[in-house]
Amino acid sequence: MRISDDFLMELRMRCDITDIISGYVQLKRRGRNLVGLCPFHNEKTPSFTVYPENGSFYCFGCGAGGEVVSFIRRVENLDFHEAVRFLCDRTGMAMPSDGFDDSMAQRRRRIYEMNREAARFFHESLMGEKGRAALEYYKRRGYSAKTIKRFGLGYAPDEWRALLTHLRQKGYSYEEIYEANLANKSEKNGKASFYDNFRNRVMVPIIDPRGNVVAFGGRVLDDSKPKYINTSDTPVYKKSLGVFGLNFAKNSKESSLILVEGYMDAIALHQAGFTNSIACLGTALTGEMAHLLSRYADEILICYDNDEAGRKATGRAIDVFSSIGMKMRVIRLSGGKDPDEILKNFGAEKFRKLIEGAENDIEFALLKAREGLDLESSDGKVRYLSLAAEILSKVKNSIAVEVYVSRLAEELNVEKTAITARISQLKRNNALRNEKKRYEDIQRESMTRMTKLKLHGDTAVRAVRAQERIISLLYNNPGFFPAVSERLSEESFTVPHLGRIFRFMSARAKENSGFELTLFSGELSPQEMDELVRLLKQSEGCFGTKKELLDCVGVLENEAQQKIQSTVDVSKMSDEEYKAQFEKLVKNKKGK
Ligand code: GTP
Ligand code: MN
Repeated sequence: MRISDDFLMELRMRCDITDIISGYVQLKRRGRNLVGLCPFHNEKTPSFTVYPENGSFYCFGCGAGGEVVSFIRRVENLDFHEAVRFLCDRTGMAMPSDGFDDSMAQRRRRIYEMNREAARFFHESLMGEKGRAALEYYKRRGYSAKTIKRFGLGYAPDEWRALLTHLRQKGYSYEEIYEANLANKSEKNGKASFYDNFRNRVMVPIIDPRGNVVAFGGRVLDDSKPKYINTSDTPVYKKSLGVFGLNFAKNSKESSLILVEGYMDAIALHQAGFTNSIACLGTALTGEMAHLLSRYADEILICYDNDEAGRKATGRAIDVFSSIGMKMRVIRLSGGKDPDEILKNFGAEKFRKLIEGAENDIEFALLKAREGLDLESSDGKVRYLSLAAEILSKVKNSIAVEVYVSRLAEELNVEKTAITARISQLKRNNALRNEKKRYEDIQRESMTRMTKLKLHGDTAVRAVRAQERIISLLYNNPGFFPAVSERLSEESFTVPHLGRIFRFMSARAKENSGFELTLFSGELSPQEMDELVRLLKQSEGCFGTKKELLDCVGVLENEAQQKIQSTVDVSKMSDEEYKAQFEKLVKNKKGK
């Protein structure tokens, strides 16, 4: 079912875009607009801009753009209908009718139900005859009956088709079960056969903050390999964004989250009363993940294993969290390799002490820098000071810097001003490097965009630019439509999505129903929305004339007439050729 314009306009009215985006991004006012760090790519200087005036956003770094529905689509990883429903829930509007559903939402709902059914099956298997050894395993690890129930822990029987048979009985097809990654597929002589993905493993369901079972982790009961099998990406689960325990941790009264490496650590911590514990699932922490977590806590307590891998991961996590301006501290485990072991050996009180003694990220970095240095020797002193200056040059909070500089000066018996001077110098270098990187990012982005357009030689580039300009001219001047309706159609556009945008716009122009961006969000994919918003930003404050529009249409018609035969396929060019082509392009643009 199509959601009506009236409804979308009402939704747009009730959803203040600044409000909604503030839930995900820290925004600062800049003139009439607001800026912040883009949630869709990693950046250190804000290029993500919100325009309250027309309810849109655009990131100059990565090119993501749109209005409130496309924002939610992307940041929550939802399709259009789901995003509308999400916003309805937030604003208390009722969805127009729940009778509709598009197939993707349907598929996802089936997987959620299937996962829940599987979790129930695993839990019952654990409690039944077949689960005796697994239950013994959990008991040996010290998990209480209450913990097992609370986390819905389970056991996948040592059989090839236990879960499969069960889910088939519940009416799920083989392909569905396979899509949910609950079964594997093997093909022999063109015939597919399916078997359980999880066999003879203790099972940990991963539940998202909304309460959906999205994935599973399955651990062996002994020392065999692989130790874990985890659900891979499915339509309801993105592994790189998987967090275990967030469904409970989000309700904890603590304002911080304790981030640990393993499921088992997180469960043990919850059992010991640290209900704000979560585990990111094995994969390297990404900026996107950090953003996700920052929505649930003011501070992150990083608590990775006490080994080389854990320390490396800690360093990386510090970088990622500080790049989004998240407060953090590092819990250093002494007396055990991981939280599970600490709790078992020394109890919860000890862990609470470790939390209290947790260093902030600056202290952690400084401690790491001095490891292995002899601070009695002047060599060691100099080396430590320069490393410390490097660390402090990246700290934004100037009061904190002041504190650490004083401490360093005293500790090493040197002049404060010497340290401060070195820090300012490094800061200038950093700023320069960031600026350069940002510039390169933008350039790279526009290169890939051009590749996507599949340039066909120089004339075609002119045509693409003419098409882009036509779209923004018509968007800004719906009254121009009649002037071109005879000469333009979707097929006049060689860039397919511009053709599609044109089709929607002209249908709307005919009905006189307006070009409010939100009305496009259901018709265009997020990528197409990016393009549209980019074009509108480019033409901002430059409404154009009918003459310009007709000129652009002329360019298209010429192009069509010439029907250029010798097309160049960019994807077949070498990097060098492509770069030459691109530079030529940029020069032409400047010359114009
Ligand atoms: P225990 O060693 O039983 O306490 O489990 P743990 O959950 O603490 O696991 P560990 O510290 O060894 O690993 C941390 C996390 O990395 C696990 O929770 C898994 O998410 C992931 N992981 C560990 N081993 C594997 C593996 O063999 N395969 C995959 N895919 N992930 C793994
Ligand atoms: Mn562990």
